[in-house]
This record gives sequence, C-alpha cells and structure tokens, in this order.
Amino acid sequence: MIKPAILVTVLLLTTYCANERQPGHESLYNERHRPQIHFSPPEMWMNDPNGMVFHKSVYHLFYQHYPDSNVWGPMHWGHATSADLVHWKNLPIALYPDSLGYIFSGSAVVDVDNTSGFGKEGDIPLVAIFTHHDPKAEKESSTTVENQSLAFSLDDGNTWTKYHGNPVLKNPGIRDFRDPKVSWYEAQKKWIMTLAASDRIIFYSSPDLKTWTKESEFGKDAGAHGGVWECPDLFPLDYNGETVWILIVNINPGGPNGGSATQYFTGQFDGKNFTPYQTDTRWADYGPDNYAGVTWSNTGSRKIFLGWMSNWQYANVVPTEKWRSACTLPRDLSIEKIDDRYLLRSTPAPELKKIAGTPIVVEDVSGNMDLSQKIGNMDGPALLQLTADSIQSFSITLLNDKQEKILIGYDRDDNTYFIDRRESGSITFEKGFGMRHTAPRLSSERKLVLDIVIDNASVEVFGDNGLTVMTGIFFPTMPFNTMHFQSEQMKIKLLTYTPLGNIWQ
Ligand code: FRU
Repeated sequence: MIKPAILVTVLLLTTYCANERQPGHESLYNERHRPQIHFSPPEMWMNDPNGMVFHKSVYHLFYQHYPDSNVWGPMHWGHATSADLVHWKNLPIALYPDSLGYIFSGSAVVDVDNTSGFGKEGDIPLVAIFTHHDPKAEKESSTTVENQSLAFSLDDGNTWTKYHGNPVLKNPGIRDFRDPKVSWYEAQKKWIMTLAASDRIIFYSSPDLKTWTKESEFGKDAGAHGGVWECPDLFPLDYNGETVWILIVNINPGGPNGGSATQYFTGQFDGKNFTPYQTDTRWADYGPDNYAGVTWSNTGSRKIFLGWMSNWQYANVVPTEKWRSACTLPRDLSIEKIDDRYLLRSTPAPELKKIAGTPIVVEDVSGNMDLSQKIGNMDGPALLQLTADSIQSFSITLLNDKQEKILIGYDRDDNTYFIDRRESGSITFEKGFGMRHTAPRLSSERKLVLDIVIDNASVEVFGDNGLTVMTGIFFPTMPFNTMHFQSEQMKIKLLTYTPLGNIWQ
C-alpha cells in the first residue's frame, strides 16, 4: 500500500517532469523520417529559421511556426536553444500573431549599448526585428500588407514584449516588403537593415532600431529573378586580411533545380551602398532543399548559416504528419578565391564532431563495391568522406531492402555533382519531387574531397571543401541500410564512414 504522502510526491514529480518536457516532447523524435541530427520542431509546421542570435553562450533559434496545423498558416515564432549547435532544447512559442498581423521572418540582435532604450537598469535587451504581415490587407489586395516591427526581451530571450510603437518601418507601397536582417555597422555606429523588396534589396539605417532611413537599393538588374526575393543577409567575411561583403538573397521560385533556393553576391558595403564584384548568379547551395537561410548574429568574425531544409514547391505535402520540415545543419561560411572570383564556401559547423562515433576507414575503393561488406550495415545518421587523387565519374548509392535508393555522385561528362532521388521511396506527393538534381563543380582541382552527411530523410553534399554544396531530402518507406560504390575509372584513396549519434537522446 503506497502512503498518500509518497503518492502525492510521485504525482507532483510526474507532473513536474511532464511540464518540464512541455512543449519539447523529445520522446517524439523517433517517428519514421524524423531527422536525428537536424533540428525539427516537436510538432506541426515549421519554415524559415528566424532571429538567430548568439547570447551569453547560447545559440537561439526562432522559426516560422504554425502550432495548430502541419501546413503553413498564421505565423508565430517558435523557439529553441542550443549550447553547441548540435543538441537543441525546445522552448515555448516566443511571438504570437496580433492585431497587426502574422509574425513573418526577421532577425534578432543584442543591443549591447541599449540604443533602443528597451533595457532598464543596465539590462542588455535582445531586440527582434520582424515583418508584420496583415492578412486582412492581403485579402483586400492592398500593397501595404507588410511592415517591420520590433519585440524585445529583458530575460535573455525567454519572454518577449512587442514594442507599443509598432510598426517601426511602414510599407511604402511595395507588396512584398519583408524579412529584415539587422546588424550593427561599427564604422558608422549605426544599425543596418537589409530588407527584401520584391525584386531588389533595400538598405535602411537607424541609430536606435526605432527610426529608419533609406540608404540605397541593390539588385534589380543583378542575379537571378525567376521569383520573389526573400530573406536576405549582409555580413563581412575575411579573406586573407581582405574584407569581402556577402549579400545573401533567397529567391522563390527560380532556384537552379526548381522552386526555392539561396543565391549570394560578393562585394563591398560602405554603410550606404552595396557595390557588387559580380552580377552573375551564384548559389550558396544547388540542391533543392536549402531555403531561407541566413546567419547567426553576434558570433564575431565566425559566420554560421542555417537554412530551412525544404522547398516551397512541395513543403506543405511532404509525407510526414506529426511535424513538417527540418533545418539544414549549421554551416560555417568562408571565402575561396578562384581566378578573380570570390566564392562562398560552406562546411558543416565543426561542433558536429560531438556526436561522431568511431570512424571506419576503407582504402582503395574502386569498380563495383558493396560497401556494407566493409563497413557493415548502415544504422542511422553518418558522415561519409571520400578522397581521390583524380576525380572521375562515380556514384554512391544508399539502398534499402525494397530497392528504394538515392544516388549521390559526380558526372565527368558535364562536370556536375548530382543527387538522384527518382527511386527514393515516396515521391508521388508532388510531380516535381522525384528528380535527378545537378550542380556544377566549381573547383578545378584534380583531386576529389567530398563530404556527405546522411540523416534519415536528407543528404547534404559538400564538394571540394564546401565549394559546391547540394542538399536534398527524401522519404524511403524503410530506412536505407546498405551502401554501394560504383565507378568505371575512379579509385577512392580513402573512404571514411563515421556513424553519428542522435541529437535528441
Ligand atoms: C520565406 C518566406 C518569407 C516570409 C515567410 C512566411 O520562406 O516566404 O519571405 O517572411 O516565409 O512564413
């Protein structure tokens, strides 16, 4: 017979633990197709990562979220944090829609000098700058649907208060006018807002985040224009002592493999104008499933990028129910110069090593080889690294017992990397999903260095140390468990297979 006091304690503890897990439900992270090494929301809809800011040793991730359904709807900002960019803790929703509209994408900054005046008694405010999207104005086909607003937190991002003076930047009559990315421009001690305005970027500046002055426009005649410009970012990167500014511009549709994608420009920024080094189109990721990506603020010279691992072409109908969509891996950005061109490189944030198991190294792989004979059956996420002295056509096939498969490789004839998901399992939910996607190889090195990060429902391919990147999702009806290598000419010198642990355990 259990004593009432003990029973009460047990009940209280159970309730406490249950509450502690709200709204995490980490035990849910076992469903079929559920990413094991990528952030995905505990349940319901997610799209763009938002408001990413590093503060007091914590990486904050907010995201476009509709908590009432697994398809897009009235947008909120979901919230999660991480100490290491690998393991995530789910937190309560940070921002809810209000009378000014849905909470669309935006950014967050640490207002160290309290320029906004939101900080009281020495508090350092975190300030979120986001788009209010007014569904009523949208229904009336008004052009002034989208305006920029603020919210602030005085408890390190836990709770947020919307500014009573919202919106702080009113729409001048441009239907698509959104996704503010704000950063501090130290040389002139002012804030710069990089804003997507239909087919161009508009730069604004502010002393206090509350009053904004237009500085300039960029992009009407540059880059890709197959769709609307969204979710921009602007930041400097160091290249051997030279400062090169990167302007990221997401575009939907009009990506290199259909639907949404992320392009970038290189150039200079002087606090007023962005002067490009190039106006041709360059893609940060050629695969179909990396969209709306931007970087964390307040990380010093290190720039860490995170994208939404889906595509508006089919995001609402992919075959998951409990939740929809995940983020890419966090990626470190850097620059490489080839001939006279500055190119953006992205590589998985090195923190990924935290979940690395013991690597299995196979030497001299060639011809037609069932790699499972060497490395055993695949069981969960893994990092696969290949090196070769001379790059030739080849493919790696991930396969399950139903012969569903995904192919990753390189085609020498047209110098492209590829991901082929035509027979990858569930593909009929959208007619454009089951395709073979390609990306130009930008490196002219003879040797190959290729990293492939494999999760339950995605591959991220980093060619030539991240010069050519491709991200693709897939939905096999049972997990891929074997791996084959195939090449007529290429000999892999070293193949390293590193199992990766589950981030939710
Ligand atoms: C990009 C985007 C943004 C917008 C948000 C709405 O995926 O369309 O431009 O702010 O999603 O959810």
